[in-house]
Amino acid sequence: METKMDEIARIELDGKTIEIPIITGSENEKALDISKLRAQTGYITLDRGFKNTGSCMSAITFLDGEKGILRYRGYPIEQLAEQASFLEVTYLILNGELPTKAELESFESEIDHHTLVHEDMKRFFEAYPAKAHPMGILASMIVSMSTFYPESQDPNRSQEAFQLTIKRLIAKLPTLAAMVYKNAVRHPFMYPKNDLGYIENFMHMCFAMPTEDYTPNPVIAKALNKLLILHADHEQNCSASTVRIVGSSQANLYASISAGISALWGPLHGGANQAVIEMLEMIQEDGGDLDKWIAKAKDKEDPFRLMGFGHRVYKNFDPRATIIKKACDDILDQLGIDDPTLDIAKRLEQVALEDEYFKSRGLYPNVDFYSGIIYRAIGIPTEMFTVMFALGRLPGWIAQWKEMLDNGDPIGRPRQVYTGENARDFVDLDKR
Ligand code: SDX
Repeated sequence: METKMDEIARIELDGKTIEIPIITGSENEKALDISKLRAQTGYITLDRGFKNTGSCMSAITFLDGEKGILRYRGYPIEQLAEQASFLEVTYLILNGELPTKAELESFESEIDHHTLVHEDMKRFFEAYPAKAHPMGILASMIVSMSTFYPESQDPNRSQEAFQLTIKRLIAKLPTLAAMVYKNAVRHPFMYPKNDLGYIENFMHMCFAMPTEDYTPNPVIAKALNKLLILHADHEQNCSASTVRIVGSSQANLYASISAGISALWGPLHGGANQAVIEMLEMIQEDGGDLDKWIAKAKDKEDPFRLMGFGHRVYKNFDPRATIIKKACDDILDQLGIDDPTLDIAKRLEQVALEDEYFKSRGLYPNVDFYSGIIYRAIGIPTEMFTVMFALGRLPGWIAQWKEMLDNGDPIGRPRQVYTGENARDFVDLDKR
């Protein structure tokens, strides 16, 4: 889709009128293109956390925080979550179009043929402590893949070699994630079974044991498929921006994705799904007094925040949370699970959304608020929840990284406003 660059903004600065081009996106979003501002005026702009700053132009994901809209390549997530497979959405996000039946079958077959990881990678697990956090293992495993495939480190690699790296990542991340899971529960690794679907294969590698037959539960597979689709991309969030800026130095894709995994780990970002369950369990153990915890979340002197509430962009509702909340009800009902944590979550949501502090600040449940309850119902340990988020977000990270290269975006290098000491002379040690 074309962007329009036919309008001009004018600012008065030091007695001069500065003309700034206005860019209009395909959804009529407006931006001031300040790429020449410093050269023209010596001024930079300051926007801590980049809340009002666009880092790039992108055609992958459109979201409208006020209207609660989220689309991948123009398709609403509500339709994709209900009707598509995760690999179908992965293909869409990477290539810009839904695959034909033949394209999807070929893509699935190519992924199937790269699910094994190098046998030597199993030895890494011998060195980790028993309680190593899965995200710390996963981030190092992914960057280590660049050492097993050194051709991936060549910025001038062929398109074919680049596409092979993408397929290796998509195929091997579930295998590595399952190995991380097996390491966490101290069970033997299970090899992939390529006659299973992408989700079912992951379930097999996580939950099967060498001593017995295992058939993936279709209800759980359907729920996981939906969850991964809902996490597949989210435009320039913290981890996607990390992947882009690391890749902008021509660091290889494995290193860039590993950096994204590390950024996602933070409890303010993807680590929130683990933090939500830990918070709900803490509230439950404390007797379930929601008013007490809501008051703590509102108290500026108290570091406690309602994990799973609020968002940098969504100031009404996170459309993903709406879908996941319903999926939560469905899967717990279908599995016959009565999880008191879900009851606490629903009560907490209701109390918070009636409270002026939350309503006035546009603090609604986000994607992480309910997802952990489903992961727990499926039997995934709490510390693995953010690994599940990474599994879903991988296609988005790769597509953002590829778009940055395809668009010829420059190396990321923000400026600053210096607030330190002015020039001063060195003082000899014996005179200080
Ligand atoms: C993800 O960016 C993405 O797209 C991320 C993500 C993705 O798909 O990649 O959607 C995934 O990261 C979802 C967010 C998961 N994080 C959490 O659930 C952690 C809890 N949420 C907060 O820490 C917070 O809401 C953030 C980090 C998500 C957003 O932080 P902001 O942008 O700084 O919040 P804000 O500016 O909107 O806050 C406005 C006010 C502030 O109070 P005042 O200074 O106005 O008095 O709301 C307060 C904040 O203190 N506030 C909260 C709160 N979140 C914001 N108060 C209590 N509990 C909270 N959770």
